[in-house]
Amino acid sequence: MEVVIVPDAAAGGELIAEAIAALIARKPDALLGVATGSTPLPIYRALAAKVASGAVDASRTRICQLDEYVGLPAGHPESYRSVVLREVIEPLGLSEASFMGPDGSAEDVQAACEAYDRALAEAGGVDLQLLGIGTDGHIGFNEPCSSLASRTRIKTLTEQTRVDNARFFDDDIEQVPHHVITQGIGTILDARHPILLATGEGKAEAVAQTVEGPVASIVPASALQLHPHATVVVDEAAASKLKLADYFRATYAAKPGWQGL
Ligand code: PGA
Repeated sequence: MEVVIVPDAAAGGELIAEAIAALIARKPDALLGVATGSTPLPIYRALAAKVASGAVDASRTRICQLDEYVGLPAGHPESYRSVVLREVIEPLGLSEASFMGPDGSAEDVQAACEAYDRALAEAGGVDLQLLGIGTDGHIGFNEPCSSLASRTRIKTLTEQTRVDNARFFDDDIEQVPHHVITQGIGTILDARHPILLATGEGKAEAVAQTVEGPVASIVPASALQLHPHATVVVDEAAASKLKLADYFRATYAAKPGWQGL
């Protein structure tokens, strides 16, 4: 696992936006998997700035969603489809046609999950998957004890995740859905390059267990240790419980600049 410690969230956003820019330069129609939540917003801001300045031509880039609430009415501002349209598709000047995600309002949720996994494979697979991490160690909405081989499916949110996400629902936990569709851990591991960004002290324990703990379904993000090319970008606060922080700093400092993430 490649661990990169950056001074703050903005630096993490810039570094990852540069990795996305390099991918798009190499493969203009790359399939970019995006995550929601607060953490990835600096990535989207940095990438939108590169597009606005003409440094990046993202016009052929395709976007896919990591997870979605089940049961929110279509167009609900906190459905992850709405969030990705607002935070990614519009700022990058992309059309809705370049964006795919699971159907959280499908009558047959299981069929919608299977259809999404198939669609990702038919699209050629995800080139770069952005990830956040929950305080409980989840990636996507794969809560603790998710199968490490899981595919896209319905999951029940833990109380902790619903408490964490209540801030997007007027601080009212009652409004936070109980169920979600999420790419499975196996689905996420199919991406060619997963990049997890974690910022803030609240993520320090989950990051330490993900990076330095055993691979275990109780910390779903630890499954990234099984991927041959996974990157974890953390700010100083989120890195504060890493025993090997100095080693990670030295390793990244010694990496040739042209290598990127
Ligand atoms: P956050 O969410 O970025 O809003 O902290 C991360 C996650 O739950 O994966």
